[in-house]
Amino acid sequence: MQQLANEVRKLRAKFILSESEMIDTAKKFQRAMQAGREGKDSSLKMLPAFLAKPIGNEKGVYLAVDLGGTNVRVMIIELKGNGNYKILDRHAFPLKNSQKGHDFTSETSSAAALFGYIAERIKSMVATNSFYPLGFTFSFPSRQTAVNQAVLIKWTKEIKTPGVEGKDVSKILAGALDDKNLHQVVPRAIINDTVGTLLTASYRDPFTDIGSICGTGHNSCYVEPQSLTSGEIINMESGNFNALPFTAYDTELDKQSDIPGEQCLEKMVSGKYIGELTRIILQDFIKQNLILTNNQSDIFFSPYMIKAEDISLFLDDESSELTGIFQWLQSVCGASGALLEERITLRTIASIVVTRSAQLVAASYFGVLQHIDPRLERKHSIAIDGSLYEFTPGYAAKLKVTLNNLLKEKSELVTLKLTKDGSGVGAAVAAALGDKGQLHD
Ligand code: BGC
Repeated sequence: MQQLANEVRKLRAKFILSESEMIDTAKKFQRAMQAGREGKDSSLKMLPAFLAKPIGNEKGVYLAVDLGGTNVRVMIIELKGNGNYKILDRHAFPLKNSQKGHDFTSETSSAAALFGYIAERIKSMVATNSFYPLGFTFSFPSRQTAVNQAVLIKWTKEIKTPGVEGKDVSKILAGALDDKNLHQVVPRAIINDTVGTLLTASYRDPFTDIGSICGTGHNSCYVEPQSLTSGEIINMESGNFNALPFTAYDTELDKQSDIPGEQCLEKMVSGKYIGELTRIILQDFIKQNLILTNNQSDIFFSPYMIKAEDISLFLDDESSELTGIFQWLQSVCGASGALLEERITLRTIASIVVTRSAQLVAASYFGVLQHIDPRLERKHSIAIDGSLYEFTPGYAAKLKVTLNNLLKEKSELVTLKLTKDGSGVGAAVAAALGDKGQLHD
């Protein structure tokens, strides 16, 4: 067990960043923002959203469609003005459903099948005699040429549906709506989910100038204060940031992913990958005979078998004997006699992975804050949506404390805000902005 303790110590030293490493990462992030804005080589795409922030008085009933990594969510939302809104109806439909036998995210699906499904789901929720301006949240890196045009650059989050990359997704959606005779649904705006989150929060809080998703995927956007594009929202696609302190485990995860060499930050922080990273580390520990000796459960030896939900379960187990983890090992992995030290190790590894995630995200926020307000003289709200932030035990607090430590005496100027449904409600706000023509195009 002494060897196990030593290996855990080494792991922690490799993963956990010192304050100076975080500051260094933030500086590199800031430089990548600048390079991306100037059209130079950069891992940050810095994609203009063709939208500025709302005023807060936008009103009306809108249809919002939110296509993320796992579900398509359809909402009918009434914007009431003065920053208020009401969700009139909402449903989430899984993109993958083994019982119903569909998987619209796989290489055997197609653009027509995926968007046909979305149109069909919209049809199940709208009346025939009403008019619905539509805001579409499309949570993948897309290059916009106008508020209602977006070409998918590349799928992320291990989605593989053929026939969408390189295409204007608003056109594919419009075609699918036409096919279903949904002429009462009129697409007005297409946005990234980070932009939706920023729009939702800034509809109420004018100090919001960063929007971020910490969920299945990771990305942030911000309001550009400088010169020509002043006030415009920029989707950084920060999940692709790559000037990072990689470990051998990160390299292994990257190599066996769909897009090696890309989405490096996302692969170190987001909900799609924290379980996988934990699994790769555990697999290594098992192979070295450090824990769970001779356990050959698929969970540890097949990619993506440990999920973000499992990580939450490990971190949530605060019992002295770690009985929750004991039961998990027993029922899911068939490991009946796991020792307390082994259970502690499982929890510690998950906690190390999650802590580093919060540190890297905090460093990226610090980089953005330095770009938009170098002397930190103003108030800033960072709007955050996503399951990792909302549900991972301790994540939100770790992120806040880490950012506060970087901000030092300026920490009171910066607020982190959970913005639930941000990506959906933001689509309604974007459609309203589209209606009012408050666009930069
Ligand atoms: C996508 C981003 C998105 C983020 C959060 C990433 O994989 O590239 O566009 O904002 O996930 O959903």
